Amino acid sequence: MAYLSLILIFCLISYSYCQQCEQSSDVARFDCYPESGSTQDKCLERHCCWRTPLKQMNSTIKYLNDVNIPYCYYPKDFPTYFVQTIQQTNFGQRIQINKSETTYMPNDITNLTVDLIYETEQRFRIRIYDSIYQRFEVPFQVPVIQKKVNITDYDVKINEQPFSILITRKSTGVILFDSSVSPLIFADQFIKFSTRLSSPLIYGLGEHRQDLLINITEQWKKLTFWSRDFPPVQNTNLYGVHPFHINLELNKNGQTNFHGQFLLNSNAMDIDLQPLPAITYTTIGGIIDLYIFTGPTVQNVIEQYWDIIGKPIMPPFWSLGFHLCRYGYNTIENLLATIERMHNADFPYDVQWTDIDAMSSYLDFTYDEKNFHDLPNLVRELQSDGKHYVNIIDPGISSIQPSGSYLPYDDGLKKNIFITKFNSTELINGKVWPGTTVFPDFTNPNATEWWTNIVSTFHDIVPFDGMWIDMNEPSNFLDGSSDGCTDNKLDNPPFVPDVLGGSLSSKTICPSAQQYLSSHYNLHSMFGYFEAIASNTAMKTIRKKRSFILSRSTFAGSGQFTAHWTGDNRATFDDMYYSIPAILSFNMFGITHVGADICGFGLETTEELCTRWMQLGAFYPFMRNHNDLGQKDQDPASFSWEAQQIMKQAVLMRYSLIPFWYTLHHEAAMASRTIVQPLFFEFSNDENTYNIDQQFLIGRAILVSPNLKSETNTVHVYIPSDVWYDFPSGVKVQSVGVFTDLDAPLSKINAHVRGGFIIPMQIPGANLMIGRDNPFILLVAQSQWSNASGNLFWDDGDSIDSIETKSYNYLEFSLNNANTLTIDALVRNYKDSPMRLDIIKVLGVNKSVTGVTINGKSYTNFLYNIPDQILLIYGLDLDMLAQANQVIQWTITN
Ligand SMILES: *[C@@H]1O[C@H](CO)[C@@H](O)[C@H](O)[C@H]1NC(C)=O
Ligand SMILES: *[C@@H]1O[C@H](CO)[C@@H](O)[C@H](O)[C@H]1NC(C)=O
Ligand SMILES: *[C@@H]1O[C@H](CO)[C@@H](O)[C@H](O)[C@H]1NC(C)=O
Ligand SMILES: *[C@@H]1O[C@H](CO)[C@@H](O)[C@H](O)[C@H]1NC(C)=O
Ligand SMILES: *[C@@H]1O[C@H](CO)[C@@H](O)[C@H](O)[C@H]1NC(C)=O
Ligand SMILES: *[C@@H]1O[C@H](CO)[C@@H](O)[C@H](O)[C@H]1NC(C)=O
Ligand SMILES: *[C@@H]1O[C@H](CO)[C@@H](O)[C@H](O)[C@H]1NC(C)=O
Ligand SMILES: *[C@@H]1O[C@H](CO)[C@@H](O)[C@H](O)[C@H]1NC(C)=O
Ligand SMILES: *[C@@H]1O[C@H](CO)[C@@H](O)[C@H](O)[C@H]1NC(C)=O
Repeated sequence: MAYLSLILIFCLISYSYCQQCEQSSDVARFDCYPESGSTQDKCLERHCCWRTPLKQMNSTIKYLNDVNIPYCYYPKDFPTYFVQTIQQTNFGQRIQINKSETTYMPNDITNLTVDLIYETEQRFRIRIYDSIYQRFEVPFQVPVIQKKVNITDYDVKINEQPFSILITRKSTGVILFDSSVSPLIFADQFIKFSTRLSSPLIYGLGEHRQDLLINITEQWKKLTFWSRDFPPVQNTNLYGVHPFHINLELNKNGQTNFHGQFLLNSNAMDIDLQPLPAITYTTIGGIIDLYIFTGPTVQNVIEQYWDIIGKPIMPPFWSLGFHLCRYGYNTIENLLATIERMHNADFPYDVQWTDIDAMSSYLDFTYDEKNFHDLPNLVRELQSDGKHYVNIIDPGISSIQPSGSYLPYDDGLKKNIFITKFNSTELINGKVWPGTTVFPDFTNPNATEWWTNIVSTFHDIVPFDGMWIDMNEPSNFLDGSSDGCTDNKLDNPPFVPDVLGGSLSSKTICPSAQQYLSSHYNLHSMFGYFEAIASNTAMKTIRKKRSFILSRSTFAGSGQFTAHWTGDNRATFDDMYYSIPAILSFNMFGITHVGADICGFGLETTEELCTRWMQLGAFYPFMRNHNDLGQKDQDPASFSWEAQQIMKQAVLMRYSLIPFWYTLHHEAAMASRTIVQPLFFEFSNDENTYNIDQQFLIGRAILVSPNLKSETNTVHVYIPSDVWYDFPSGVKVQSVGVFTDLDAPLSKINAHVRGGFIIPMQIPGANLMIGRDNPFILLVAQSQWSNASGNLFWDDGDSIDSIETKSYNYLEFSLNNANTLTIDALVRNYKDSPMRLDIIKVLGVNKSVTGVTINGKSYTNFLYNIPDQILLIYGLDLDMLAQANQVIQWTITN
C-alpha cells in the first residue's frame, strides 16, 4: 500500500515519469541497477523507474544467482545518443553519435563513432568507440575489410533520434539485432547495450557450467565473464571466456535458421538474458566490437565465427589416444606400479602424465630427483614403447630461489618479461604452489624466446611430448598480490560484474598490474590465450613436430593453439552429465580437442561411475582419466576384472575409430567443422533435438547415448528420423523419430551409426603408434537410398607442415546403386605406412549377396548375414593406395 501511494505521489509531481515508466510487460524491463543493494532512492537517483514487477517470480528460480525481474529499469526517455552525421565509406557507414547529458556512471563518453562494416554476405560488424581517444582493443588479428560487399543476406536500418540499429534477415524478415530496446551507455568503465533476440533459445556463452540449451522463455539469467580458477559449479565465471552465442530462429515455414553473435571484448563482463527475449552486454572496458553471423545454417554460423577467431589446431595423432594422469602418484614407484598394472591388464593407452607432485618443491621446469629419481629414463622407456609423456607447467614462477640457481626466474628478469605493479618497474608478487611467485607476461615480445629457452632446457632433461598449462587464469592463492592492490580505478571500477568473490582481484593478480600490451584489467582473461601461443611456439621449435598443449584457461581463438579440458570436476554422475554440454559448447568455440577428467577429479569415484565414464570418455575428442591427490586409484587397471574388460572394450572401440576421428580433426582445421556436435546441428528442423544434451554426434555419423544415471539399466534417448544401425553390431534400428528406452546395462554404451556414411576404421593396437600400420576397416552404413559416402585423411601424424607440403593421403569412399563401393585415392603422397584395407562391413543389405568382385576380379571371402542384413567382406589385404580408383562390387538377388 505504502508503495502504491508513493508511486501515486510521484505521478502527481511528474506525469512524464509515469508515462515514461509505463510498461505493458515485465519482460521489457532493462535493469538500471544491476549492482546488488538496489533501492528506490538509489534507482531514482539514476533517473530510472522503480516499480514492483507486475508478475512476481516464484518457483522458476532454480539457482541462487538466477536473477529476478528488476524493480529498477530505464524509462523510455533515458538519455542516450543521437546521430549527428552519417558518412558513406568504402566498408559501409561511419556514424558520429553524441549525447548531451551524461548519466550515472563516471566518465561518460559523449562523442562516439559507429562503424558499420558490411564484411561478407553473411557477416556484419558493428564497432562503437570513443571518437577522440583511442581505447583498449582486443589484440587480435581479425580480417580487415576495405570494401563493402554489394549483396548481403541482411538488411541494416539506422534509427537516428535516438540512435539504434535494426538488422533483419532479408529472406524471412526475422529480427537479428535491435538495439532500440534499451539505451546505449558508454562510459570509460561501463559499456552497456541490449538487443532483442530472435527467439528465447540460445547456445554458447561460455565458459559456464550449464545445460547446452539456454532457454529464457520464462527465465532471467546472468552470465559473468572473467577467467577464474574454480571447480566448475553453476552460475559462476569459470576458467575461460567466450562471449559468443548462437540464436535459433523459429520460422513459420518450419525451416529453422540460425545466427550468431560475438562480442570481441576481453574485459570483465556480464551478459544478461531476459524473456523479451533480449540480451544485454555490460562490459567494463574496451570498445563495442560486435560481429553478427547470419548463417543461415548452424554450421554456417560456426564457419563464419571461426573465420574471425581462427580454426582449431590439427592435433598430433598420438594425442587422440587414451591419456592417464593423477595428482598424487607421489613417487616414481607408484607411477611405475600404475604403468605396470596397465601393461599387465593389456590395457591400451597412449599417454602417461604427471601432475605437480612430480616437481621439486612445485617449481616449474624441475622434477623431484628424490621421489621421481629416474623420471627421464622412464619417459624414454615409455617413448620407446610408442607411448608419450606430458607434464604440467604453471605460470607462477618462484621468485624466492637463491639468485643464479633458477633459470626461469633469472632469465625472466634479464628479459624483463614479468608482470609489474601499476606504474612501476617492481614485479607483482602472488602466491601459488611453490610459494611466492611472479607471473610472466606472455604479451611481452621477449616472452616467447624466454619461454622457449626454459622449456627447451628442461626438455633436454625430461623429453616430454606435450605441455599441460594449468593455473593460467592466472590463479593466485592471494587476492591481488602480497601487497594487496592499489586504490586506483582499475582495481576499483565503479561497476564490477557479478564475478565470484565479488572483486576482480579475487584469487588472481591485481587488475592494475601492468603488462606489455596493456593493463591486466584488459588482458586478464587472455592470459591463457597468450600462454598457449607461446607454449605452442616453444614446443614446435623444440620438437620440430606438431605440438600438443592442454590449457585450462581459454579465450576465443585459443583452439588454434591448444586443447582444453573442463577443469577440476568431481566424481559425480551430475559432473559426468555436464561434461557433455561442455564439450559440445567448446566445439562451437573452436576448441574442438576437448574432454573432461574421466571418472572425476575431485571426490572418490566408484567402479560404476568410472566404468560409465570411461565408456563416455571414449567418445570425447580428448580422453584423459585424471584423479586428485588423496583419492584412491582410478586408473582402469585398479578396478575389478569385469570393470576392466568393459573399459577396455570402450577404449578399443575408440582406437578402432581413430581414422575417423583423425579425419574429423582435419576437417575441423581445414573446413571449420565441429568434431562433436549436438543433434540439432544435423536435425535442425526437428524441435525434439533443441534441448538434447545427454546425447551427441561424432562428426555427422555416430550418435552416442550414454547412460548417465546410477543403478539403471536402460537409457531414455531420442533417435532422430533417419536410418540408424547399432554400433558396433550393425543391426538396424526399427523405430526412429521417437523417444525410446534402450537397454543400457553397465557393460554397454549405446552408439549408432547413421545411414549414408562410410566410417574408416582400423584394427586397434596396444597404442596408436603400434597400431598405425594395422589394416583398415570400412564400415558402410547404407542410407534409405542404399548409398553412402565417407573420407579419410592420413599422414605421418605429427609433421607441422604435412598439409602445406601435401605429404598426406586423402581418400574418398562412396557406395552407389546398393552394390558398388569405390575408393578414390585423391591424394597419395604419404607412403611411409601401408594403408591396407582388410574388412568391409556393409550394413542394411536387405537382399542376398551371391558374389563379390574386387576391381573386376571375383572374390570369395565374404559372408552375408540374412537376419541382420550385414555383408562382410574379409581378408582383403587391398592396398588402398595402389591406384587412384578401386571398385568393390557385389551381386544382389532377391
Ligand atoms: C510460489 O511457490 C510456492 C512453493 O513453490 C507455492 O506454494 C505458491 O503457490 C507459489 N505462488 C505463486 C503465486 O505461484
Ligand atoms: C550533440 O549534437 C547535437 C546536434 O546533433 C548538438 O545540438 C549537441 O550540442 C551535441 N552535444 C554535444 C555534447 O556535443
Ligand atoms: C563532440 O562533438 C561535437 C560535435 O562534433 C563537438 O562540438 C564537441 O566538441 C565534441 N565533444 C567533445 C567532448 O569532444
Ligand atoms: C559492387 O557493385 C559495384 C557497382 O555496381 C561494382 O563496381 C563492384 O564490382 C561490385 N563489387 C563486387 C564485389 O561485386
Ligand atoms: C627484452 O629484453 C631486453 C634484454 O634482453 C631488454 O633490454 C628489453 O627491454 C626487453 N624488451 C621488453 C619489451 O621488455
Ligand atoms: C606514475 O608514477 C610517477 C612517478 O612516481 C608519478 O609521477 C605519476 O603520477 C604516476 N602515474 C599515475 C597514473 O599514477
Ligand atoms: C523452453 O522453455 C519453455 C517454458 O519454460 C518450454 O515450454 C519449452 O518447451 C522449452 N523449449 C525447449 C526447446 O526446450
Ligand atoms: C531394402 O532397402 C531399401 C533401401 O533402404 C528399401 O528401399 C527397400 O524397401 C528395402 N527392401 C526390403 C524388402 O526391405
Ligand atoms: C544418396 O542419394 C540421395 C538421393 O539421390 C541423395 O540425395 C544423397 O545425397 C545421396 N547420399 C550419398 C551419401 O551419396
